[in-house]
Amino acid sequence: MPFQWHPDDPPPLVEEHSKAKLTVLRRYLRAYFDTLNVNPRREQFKLDLVDGFAGGGTFRDGDKIVSGTPLIMLEEAEAARDRINRGRAKPLRFDCKHYFVDKKAAHTAHLRRALTDRGYQVDGGAIVVRNSRFEDEADGIIAEIRRRQPRSGRAIFLLDQTGFSRVELELVARIFRDLRDAEVILTFAADALVNHLSMTPALIKSAAPLELTEAQIHELLEYRDRDGGRALIQRVLRPHIRSVAGSDYDTPFFIRPRRSRRALWFLHLSSHPTARDVMIQRHWDVHNTFEHYGPGDFGMLGWDALQPGALPLFHFEDLEARRMREQLLDPMARELFGLASKSPITVDEMRCRLANRTAARFTDLDAVVLRLRQEREIEIRDSGGKVRSRPLTRLQSDDRIAVPETLLLPMREISRLR
Ligand SMILES: C[S@@+](CC[C@H](N)C(=O)[O-])C[C@H]1O[C@@H](n2cnc3c(N)ncnc32)[C@H](O)[C@@H]1O
Repeated sequence: MPFQWHPDDPPPLVEEHSKAKLTVLRRYLRAYFDTLNVNPRREQFKLDLVDGFAGGGTFRDGDKIVSGTPLIMLEEAEAARDRINRGRAKPLRFDCKHYFVDKKAAHTAHLRRALTDRGYQVDGGAIVVRNSRFEDEADGIIAEIRRRQPRSGRAIFLLDQTGFSRVELELVARIFRDLRDAEVILTFAADALVNHLSMTPALIKSAAPLELTEAQIHELLEYRDRDGGRALIQRVLRPHIRSVAGSDYDTPFFIRPRRSRRALWFLHLSSHPTARDVMIQRHWDVHNTFEHYGPGDFGMLGWDALQPGALPLFHFEDLEARRMREQLLDPMARELFGLASKSPITVDEMRCRLANRTAARFTDLDAVVLRLRQEREIEIRDSGGKVRSRPLTRLQSDDRIAVPETLLLPMREISRLR
């Protein structure tokens, strides 16, 4: 049953999976503001926050009222302004604009009331509430953001749709095309799509916003009936969404509602590897609500499989982090040999190339690189090309990873061949 709000009624009860979503969003925004505002000389920070499926603004959690996504966006922007300005000689001016859209009049009415009750000025410039379909508002909002921020177009779009087909991926692609520094967080009912997959004309029509071709739907249908089919389907869908939406990086956060047990993706799409890293760090922070099946190396089965077979359950906990770093040693030695065989690659490049393929944070990838250096599988050179010979505890992003000239294969590989 989708959530219902009415201005004269108490808000709906929050569900466990929604709470997980709200926690990740809050923590992500907090880290986003902090990551982008480390420069003490910065004078102004402009950001547009768009909640395209905003709902009514609040939920009930037992006898408490808790904030929904539009309020979380406002609260985190304000908290960041106070936190970041604490101790600054020159204050940082926050200039955030919020757009909240919902197609149901009763929902936007509830939201307006929740906002005004908390002292926010709605439609006063910085906060806009629109009772409309997001798809009808999107181009106008993109144009307004471009007017406000012609160069960077820094924006976060939260598209918390119900189901999988309300947000056209082409629309997400337009966001990335028109706004250089935009990020999109998309809820995507991956399991519902898998369950509904059938070759009926209605399904093909409902999957149209995903731009799946008939051939791809056939392929997905074939996978569906195989062992571990869902994992395979997700392995196909994830890069498909990334490529049609035109984003370079993604982080699929799986939330499994207790009642339906159907996993939802909380899919974060961005063009910047740091944004992906900040999001993946939140996954590790809230490990109790996040899971997937598979190892932590590059062989992850699309992050989740409902028929896991022999695959381990991955909980994003300390033990997994240690195991993941161990599991990454061999494949990373091979990858780095491939990537750096002709010429050294920077630490930044290494992170970008590997980011989408594992649950590892940059700190994990760096730790594995340092261990491989210790084992003399690779060398680290400084930005001028000189080999670093001292013990290292940290890598610089412009350090170079190089393959020692004496090695034709990773030593780890050679020792296995013996
Ligand atoms: C899951 S609820 C949003 C909950 C909210 N993000 C939160 O967690 O606080 C989805 C909302 O999307 C709205 N909705 C559905 N289709 C829409 C559309 N095409 N455009 C805008 N809103 C839509 C529904 O009315 C509903 O309020």
